[in-house]
Amino acid sequence: MKILMVCLGNICRSPLAEGILRNKAKKAGLHWTIDSAGTGNYHIGEAPHRLSQKVSKLNGVDISFQQARQFHKNDMKHFDKIYVMDSDNYEEVKTISQDQWNQDKVDLLLNELHPFENREVPDPWYGTEEAYHRVYKLLDLACTAVIKKYEVVEIKK
Ligand code: 4NP
Repeated sequence: MKILMVCLGNICRSPLAEGILRNKAKKAGLHWTIDSAGTGNYHIGEAPHRLSQKVSKLNGVDISFQQARQFHKNDMKHFDKIYVMDSDNYEEVKTISQDQWNQDKVDLLLNELHPFENREVPDPWYGTEEAYHRVYKLLDLACTAVIKKYEVVEIKK
């Protein structure tokens, strides 16, 4: 599986989702490609937000080496599944993808926990450390659901 996590800045939510899923995939013995990107270009080349780094480290996940990049239309072709954090991300990914857009590949990450409810991962950008902890917990649950869903596909291959 090749999975891409997408948010706006690629410094708060999607780098956490990338790190959490990579950690879980490794523990499950799955050789997946996992990456993240932002729909915006404001933070290209930057490391994850210090609170995303801190909270993930407290949970045993190192994301300090990750670097923000912008979502590109070729990502739509390259990845099997693209998870967005909120509905603005969804619309932006659609716009950037142009002729490469493939609706079947894209979903809100929390739909893996609450199918068809279109719940969003709240943006902790202006929040306190507590907001990052809440986001971490949500992403952790959602990533467990992603592993459960696709590890079966991997075993059948
Ligand atoms: P993210 O959070 O999309 O979870 O990385 C944000 C990071 C930066 C900005 C907005 C959201 N910003 O406006 O710079």
